Amino acid sequence: MATLFKNFSRILTLQNEKGYLFNLPEEKNLSILNDFSIVVEEGVIKDFLPNSNIIEAKFEKVVDCRGKLALPGFVECHTHTVFAGSRGDEFKLKLQGVDYEEIARRGGGIISTVKATRKASEEELLNLAKPRAWEFISQGVTTLEIKSGYGLDFETEVKLLRVINRLNRELPIEIVPTFLGAHAYPPEFKENHSDYVKILTERVIPYVAQNNLARSCDAFCELTAFSPEEVRLVFASAKEQGMNLKLHTDQFNSIGGIDVALEFNARSVEHLEAVTDDALRKLNGQEIVAVLLPGVSFFLKYQYAPAKKLIKNNVPVAFSTDFNPGSSHILNLHLIMQLATFEMNLTAEQILPGVTINAARALGLSHEIGSLQIGKNADFAIFEAKDYSDIIYNVGRNLLVYTVKKGNLVYSKIRN
Ligand code: NIG
Ligand code: FE
Repeated sequence: MATLFKNFSRILTLQNEKGYLFNLPEEKNLSILNDFSIVVEEGVIKDFLPNSNIIEAKFEKVVDCRGKLALPGFVECHTHTVFAGSRGDEFKLKLQGVDYEEIARRGGGIISTVKATRKASEEELLNLAKPRAWEFISQGVTTLEIKSGYGLDFETEVKLLRVINRLNRELPIEIVPTFLGAHAYPPEFKENHSDYVKILTERVIPYVAQNNLARSCDAFCELTAFSPEEVRLVFASAKEQGMNLKLHTDQFNSIGGIDVALEFNARSVEHLEAVTDDALRKLNGQEIVAVLLPGVSFFLKYQYAPAKKLIKNNVPVAFSTDFNPGSSHILNLHLIMQLATFEMNLTAEQILPGVTINAARALGLSHEIGSLQIGKNADFAIFEAKDYSDIIYNVGRNLLVYTVKKGNLVYSKIRN
């Protein structure tokens, strides 16, 4: 039986054929329906009807959305939401002028989160992560990617992926796990990189893939992390196991990560704050998504990725919080949209494909989510707003009223 979400004032469908949209500044790119209702059956969109033409008696359930604005449920495509401990002490050092890479060299950074995460039980990690995920849900996020990468040994990486998979089962939205064993070198392999890569490629990646713990594999290509050659080994193993690939690259140094991502047909390259013009041009026409993380630049007081140049070079761009305890302790996708406006000089029209369809493509899910089209999931972010620009204009406020996942109301700000 069908449900009717009736009387929207505006529906941003972001309809598309390719499974992504270029981040154009024109409103028509968003494919807007004015004064329409949405019919949902078995979790997918069945039809769009003009508000003037609905017969309510035909529906089992009717949800009144009078005067409201509907967007595709947001896709948050790059987060590190499951971790233990706090890096508040490092934040204090940072305020005194010690930079992120220096903190890492002093044994802090990712490794300090690894130490806390190794000590935490599965239950503790689950209880820490749930309220964080709910915070995203309250912003209209209906698909949330979460990476491992704070374990850096077999047991803890598997523990993290188990927690992420449990979140997927226990929360009402889709949680997408990504394996990030190649996030940093653990202290015990600091001087022996090749043995750690061997453990990843020969033991952890096959186990993760064969036990269905993650469909995607990520790595961090950086001077202080994995070299392009080391990423090649990780990617070769993941590809052999049938995993999708994505890459943290060109954050502080442009050392060839983009070449590796293109060679292996990765879905996305992420960060790009330090991408060179040469590397950037290689992305032109490749249909690979650039996932930009302006929260990192804001949080580290660092340069922003060249969003406008990427867009000019025909690269589909997505935006994400990169929520993590060190480089972007920002659990707010709306704030990221605001930073993309104020700091990357983009328009609302350019940003919205980046938190919906292009983010879905970065996860390999754009055939199911990211736009509102007949046959795709009925995932909606519903706002009490006249226009979509109000979401960005209201800095520090959350105008979301309902989050709908596969036709189910999973979050409501309106309490009766
Ligand atoms: O995406 N760049 C590498 N990794 C994370 C940071 C993780 C951390 O500092 O804990 C990132 O920025
Ligand atoms: Fe990250």
